[in-house]
Amino acid sequence: MHATPSVAPVDAVVAEDVSKVFFSGTDPVWALEDFSLSLEPGSFTCIVGPSGCGKSTFLRILGGLEERTVGSVTMPEASSPIPAAFVFQEHGVFPWMTVLENVAFGLRMSGTGKTERLGIARDWLERVRLADFADSYPHQLSGGMRQRVAIARAFATGSSVLLMDEPLGALDAQTRMLMQEELIALWEAERKTVLMVTHDIDEAIILSDRVIVMSGRPGTLREDITVPFDRPRSFDIERDPAYSALRARIWELLREDARTAEETA
Ligand SMILES: Nc1ncnc2c1ncn2[C@@H]1O[C@H](COP(=O)(O)OP(=O)(O)OP(=O)(O)O)[C@@H](O)[C@H]1O
Ligand SMILES: [Mg+2]
Repeated sequence: MHATPSVAPVDAVVAEDVSKVFFSGTDPVWALEDFSLSLEPGSFTCIVGPSGCGKSTFLRILGGLEERTVGSVTMPEASSPIPAAFVFQEHGVFPWMTVLENVAFGLRMSGTGKTERLGIARDWLERVRLADFADSYPHQLSGGMRQRVAIARAFATGSSVLLMDEPLGALDAQTRMLMQEELIALWEAERKTVLMVTHDIDEAIILSDRVIVMSGRPGTLREDITVPFDRPRSFDIERDPAYSALRARIWELLREDARTAEETA
């Protein structure tokens, strides 16, 4: 055991000195190096970083989908048998299940009885305005609606930690802004611990308490930035001069890394 978990709240997410090497081709690939991050319970954190810096790998390690090579990970005492619920960019819903079955799926995995899980799933479909589509199949929905199904499923699991990997990345700009508003509202009501990867700096600032900027591969922590805007938030913060300053700072950090990656390629 390292020192940090003893001072962190028991329901915090703590990753310490996590490194990951993949041995798939001829040369090993260091995806992450000594990456440490603690998440306060009920906080919303976004990770931004150059493509290939290990963001998805880190989320997968936290959620138990990938083994770490070195380091330690502490997840909250499970309030649900699922340590963390995932939302992916696409293909996160099962095409052979109805919308209702998809939302109930996580609860099925955690052993919740059928009547109870369908009841919870129906409540969540109401909350994401998809009650009329309970018996539809994913291919009958728009991309935005499918992501609402994936988000409802993640919230419905009862897990206190949500790991989202570019959940709005495949949506058009307008749908994306609407979904950002919905996501803020759901999170403000539920206060789960959210860690979300995004390539969109504005999205990171609008949604999060903290923005973690990662360096290029192997991914390390470059900067841990506190977002200073009050909640509840709206897109009005974009008119605040502090918003432009923060945006420019994050962009500058990312740009340096993109340049370095290009020069050392
Ligand atoms: N299963 C795997 N086998 C081998 N290499 C892998 C595997 N998964 C990821 N990698 C490599 O590890 C590095 C980090 O990948 P990862 O997908 O975590 O990056 P990312 O930051 O999520 O990138 P993006 O922004 O493009 O989604 C990349 O070089 C990738 O090629
Ligand atoms: Mg990724």
